[in-house]
Amino acid sequence: MNSIVKSVFFIIFLFNIVYANQLTTGEKVFKAYCWGCHHQTSVAFGPSFEEIANKRSTGEIQGHIVSPKSTYKQLGHKRSVMPAFGDKLSQKELDLITNFILNYKTKGK
Ligand code: HEC
Repeated sequence: MNSIVKSVFFIIFLFNIVYANQLTTGEKVFKAYCWGCHHQTSVAFGPSFEEIANKRSTGEIQGHIVSPKSTYKQLGHKRSVMPAFGDKLSQKELDLITNFILNYKTKGK
């Protein structure tokens, strides 16, 4: 019994580490690749993450990051200026940055 309790605490402990790392890594991806053109809450060269999070689904966000040339019209943009990140980001980094963006959702929470 005692060892089960210990195992449960150990799993919770591991989970906390993974979760804490994810948040900083999402922020790291943002600072490494997106910061120059996107800000969290104000419009920069591209739309703010808050605006994106309020309007888009996970699929739309990931599709645009991977291949903006194929999605910009569908998302209502006249020009395609953003570079594609399909080759630069791993699936894990893509998930992290998507969660990072979706954290700025203010509507319908
Ligand atoms: C060179 C500037 C630039 C960089 C770097 C950049 N973006 Fe963009 N982003 C834009 C612009 C401009 C748009 C508007 C549409 C377009 O040009 O594709 C956009 C659009 C988007 C959209 C869709 C917006 C909508 O209408 O919902 C998402 C999602 C997005 N960017 C995420 C990212 C992420 C994540 C990164 C970093 C990995 C990034 N962008 C890096 C300029 C940039």
